[in-house]
Amino acid sequence: MKIATLFLSILLPLASAFPLFEPSYHPIVVWHGLGDSAYAEGLQEFAKELREAFPGIYVHIVALGQDATSDQRAGFFGNVNDQVSTVCTDLSAVPELANGFDAVGFSQGGQFLRAYVERCNAPQVRNLITFGSQHQGISDLPACKPGDFFCRLAEGALRGGIYTDYAQSNLVTAQYYRDSKSQETYQRYLEANHFLTDINNEKKEGRNATYKANLEKLDNFVMLMFNKDTTVEPKQSSWFATYPVPSKDKQGAAQDKLEVLPLRQSEIYLEDRIGLKALDKRGAIKMELCKGVHMQIDAACQMKVFGRYAGIAPPSKVIPASVRHAWARAIHATMTTLRSKEILRWIRMQFRLLGSALGWS
Ligand SMILES: *[C@@H]1O[C@H](CO)[C@@H](O)[C@H](O)[C@H]1NC(C)=O
Repeated sequence: MKIATLFLSILLPLASAFPLFEPSYHPIVVWHGLGDSAYAEGLQEFAKELREAFPGIYVHIVALGQDATSDQRAGFFGNVNDQVSTVCTDLSAVPELANGFDAVGFSQGGQFLRAYVERCNAPQVRNLITFGSQHQGISDLPACKPGDFFCRLAEGALRGGIYTDYAQSNLVTAQYYRDSKSQETYQRYLEANHFLTDINNEKKEGRNATYKANLEKLDNFVMLMFNKDTTVEPKQSSWFATYPVPSKDKQGAAQDKLEVLPLRQSEIYLEDRIGLKALDKRGAIKMELCKGVHMQIDAACQMKVFGRYAGIAPPSKVIPASVRHAWARAIHATMTTLRSKEILRWIRMQFRLLGSALGWS
């Protein structure tokens, strides 16, 4: 869904808070959500604010079209496998990304960036961050906003047959539609789907070991869920949870009080099909909760990510570990106390001290 509001204004004080540093930040690649476009004002503003908050940072917004209309259209229509492969080619050709980047996926852009990591990962992703993404698909359709023409069109086509060959290769949402509420619908999904089943190594045959190996290379996989998300059904899909397929005798009875199966109890994790368990054992899985409806990324939600997993300097360059930790704490302090001038002055002083201790100034 669309990013429309002013985004990172809360981070702006950071830029002036650390005049001593000229760190080379890890580049950021953003893949936007359904209904949005890389050229839309919201996304462009977001990129601009990132550049202001982290001077010198390289920000790349994934686009699947040459203009706003065609890029927005690609969010609804197209073959996701082809789209991911196009993005793999595009990103491999960006010189600024050659040494790797942090990947930020909004909504469906999150599972698509995960596909990028699993299938391509060249250049390599350091932190994968997904906001309200549908990692275990959706078991119902997101509601269209009034007047959203492409959405209505896609919805109309979807109702006509989600698991038809046409939908599965032309309608984006259908390619992560996963209804596991009955054995029948789940079997149909398994047979028809060529995207989600694949990136989740869900089918017994044809599991791809590269996907697991690549995902395990992540430094961190940060998954954010919105507590009032009604667009993603179930919302816990953002944390890899899903409705378990009911056994034959339980079918029907369970329908009215379905409960999702959390990641750590589900097969994808227990069998470690894509490396989530390995990541988790390393402490690299971060499940964070944001307050709000789908894609309502408020200040507290931003703080969970920016300056922590994205928009921080790569560890080995420039900043020694001890200073880095102090810096991380300072950022945390800045963010939690928001924009108190005193705090900023204090932090600046701390860094001047650190800087002179390290012979920087
Ligand atoms: C597994 O995925 C990699 C990366 O996308 C691909 O090159 C390879 O052909 C796949 N292997 C199989 C057996 O499908």
